[in-house]
Amino acid sequence: MTDRERVPDPTASAHQPLLSARKVRKSFGGVEVLKGISLDVAAGQVMCLLGPSGSGKSTFLRCINHLERIDGGRISVDGELVGYAARHGRIFEMNRREVAKQRRGIGMVFQRFNLFPHMTALENITAAPIGVRGLPKPAARDRGRELLDRVGLADLAQSYPAQLSGGQQQRVAIARALAMDPQLLLFDEPTSALDPELVGDVLDVMRALAADGMTMVVVTHEIGFARGAADEVVFMDAGIVVESGPPARVLDNPQNPRTQAFLDSVI
Ligand SMILES: Nc1ncnc2c1ncn2[C@@H]1O[C@H](COP(=O)(O)OP(=O)(O)OP(=O)(O)O)[C@@H](O)[C@H]1O
Ligand SMILES: [Mg+2]
Repeated sequence: MTDRERVPDPTASAHQPLLSARKVRKSFGGVEVLKGISLDVAAGQVMCLLGPSGSGKSTFLRCINHLERIDGGRISVDGELVGYAARHGRIFEMNRREVAKQRRGIGMVFQRFNLFPHMTALENITAAPIGVRGLPKPAARDRGRELLDRVGLADLAQSYPAQLSGGQQQRVAIARALAMDPQLLLFDEPTSALDPELVGDVLDVMRALAADGMTMVVVTHEIGFARGAADEVVFMDAGIVVESGPPARVLDNPQNPRTQAFLDSVI
């Protein structure tokens, strides 16, 4: 950033969470789909976000990296407000370049893998580090191969997306997100477009990332993954957080009838 400064979150403290959302509100055309979402994720923690279709999960993820502008509340990552910068003591919404720069620290993995079809697996992974960060090609390729190895695809560096299964494509998408060294990874139903037999390999990669200390927010209907990998489970419905807590409490002993009804419908 040139003459602008990142805006420190005024409520940040020495033991601030990596991600902090406070009373986040978002409307589309007069319909409020996020009605005051507050949650924290500490560095190295995994939060799983559950909830019925239309409850606002994807919208909330998109707000975290400012793909959507929020209408109220605030979101901060690593102590800085997302999407806003200060200049001459006043606060402005960041311009597109500044948003893009801030977003580099936040990786996102979607339900549809969104790989570039004309690029090999390795090229998909190295494109942003070379093009956006200016990493020299040999270094980017070395790191890309390391990441492919990490997601179990060392042998498929030269394959094109059309030659890969959905599960393999999703693992390339995860490696691509990791290539930018994000401090936070967001997953939006990363396995729900996959054939059932391919889901396990993707969840294994995500479990390994969690075990390595990656900070993750995962929207998922995979209750088994949430039970094993999440530090905290948040159940959303109709734009509010209905219930949250450790998986053993929210998944196995939910207090709210809406959580119970949702869990009955997906298990
Ligand atoms: N760009 C948009 N314009 C208008 N309405 C939108 C937009 N994006 C989302 N919505 C609406 O906001 C509400 C929340 O949608 P969202 O996609 O966040 O839900 P979700 O919890 O991710 O659902 P699903 O489980 O089906 O993915 C829905 O009613 C949806 O139709
Ligand atoms: Mg969604």
